[in-house]
Amino acid sequence: MKTLTVKSSKGSYKIHIGKGLLARGGALVAGVFEPRAKLMIVSQKSLASYYKPLAASLNRKGFEIHTHMLPRGEVAKSGKELFRLSRALLARGFERKDGIVAVGGGVVSDLAGFTAAVYLRGIRYVNVATTLLAQVDSAIGGKTAIDLPEGKNLMGAFHPPALVISDVAVLRSLPDRELRASLGEVVKYGVIRSQQLFALLEKNSKAVLRKDLRVLEKIVAVSAGIKAGVVGRDEFETRGERMILNYGHTFGHGVEGALRYGRLVHGEAVAAGMMMAAQLAAALGLCSRELVWRQMRLIVSLKLTASIKNLRLKTGAILKVMMRDKKKRKGVLNFILPRRIGQVSVEKNIPLSLVRKVIRLAGGE
Ligand SMILES: NC(=O)c1ccc[n+]([C@@H]2O[C@H](COP(=O)([O-])OP(=O)(O)OC[C@H]3O[C@@H](n4cnc5c(N)ncnc54)[C@H](O)[C@@H]3O)[C@@H](O)[C@H]2O)c1
Ligand SMILES: [Zn+2]
Repeated sequence: MKTLTVKSSKGSYKIHIGKGLLARGGALVAGVFEPRAKLMIVSQKSLASYYKPLAASLNRKGFEIHTHMLPRGEVAKSGKELFRLSRALLARGFERKDGIVAVGGGVVSDLAGFTAAVYLRGIRYVNVATTLLAQVDSAIGGKTAIDLPEGKNLMGAFHPPALVISDVAVLRSLPDRELRASLGEVVKYGVIRSQQLFALLEKNSKAVLRKDLRVLEKIVAVSAGIKAGVVGRDEFETRGERMILNYGHTFGHGVEGALRYGRLVHGEAVAAGMMMAAQLAAALGLCSRELVWRQMRLIVSLKLTASIKNLRLKTGAILKVMMRDKKKRKGVLNFILPRRIGQVSVEKNIPLSLVRKVIRLAGGE
């Protein structure tokens, strides 16, 4: 088992990464809550084979265990589910000393974390991350949220977890589509911060797709370490550093928005976005053509989308979504662009004509 520490304004917390951690959950959680505290396991019915052994282990440690199931999919990140969970906590007498244990992917931890942030003005929660996306990204950093009909993540809070447990053995059952949904994020960490991670992915792309646990464990540890470092230094996104996590996301959100979500998973849209960002950087002379090719080869070998050809997307439609996103940030077009593998910079005032050209080059119509 590997343990990382994340700094946060509410005290630091640990991330445990390894195989077979669920069955040892009781011992890992023991220091976080008082003996005999009530714990609400928040999960999804389909994850029973994961939360049940964890519940048994917590029970053996003397915790009083309750369970609460969320529906599958983004619909769980709603006001309705926030109130339903809050009222279930209240009905079972949960107090400030008690807590929530979120077992699942980003959907479960975003809803459970936001409920923990506001129930009785804040109780503690543990993230037991079961998707690759959750293990490398959403379970770490304390961003929690629900959606509004008008858009995703429009209500939320910075509320760091008290502990993160990432048992890589559970990734075995992850559908290929969900694996792909997270791999874009992993490539991103390599490009923004780690030449070694990038090389590890290049060397092991087949093993990754086969879900080789030894390789996945390394990838989760390095990626989680990068995210932990960034959010530890810029918890509230005020110093700019956390912004580098948006590499590939400005173009990626443009693609997702123009598609009205659904035809590509998030990681594929991010991969296409990273290709456009790299082309833009090369056109501006900020990085070599070799970087663009190297990134493309890796993206293709991980079976992600490197181009948006065949999607019949209008360049103008992608740009419009990107500009709408930008308006919220005072109209400045900022891009995170690669300089070399492992290093990016924030670039402002990029000519719109060049952005348009790059989208066309990627296959925008
Ligand atoms: N808070 C953050 O910092 C942050 C960061 C990135 C994304 N997010 C949010 O995360 C969400 C996406 O998270 P996600 O990709 O984990 O999706 P998800 O939570 O919906 O999980 C995907 C699907 O996989 C299933 N699943 C989970 N673990 C499994 C396992 N081990 N085996 C088989 N199936 C399993 C789930 O039941 C679900 O149906 C989005 O709502 C996004 O906004 C939050
Ligand atoms: Zn992302």
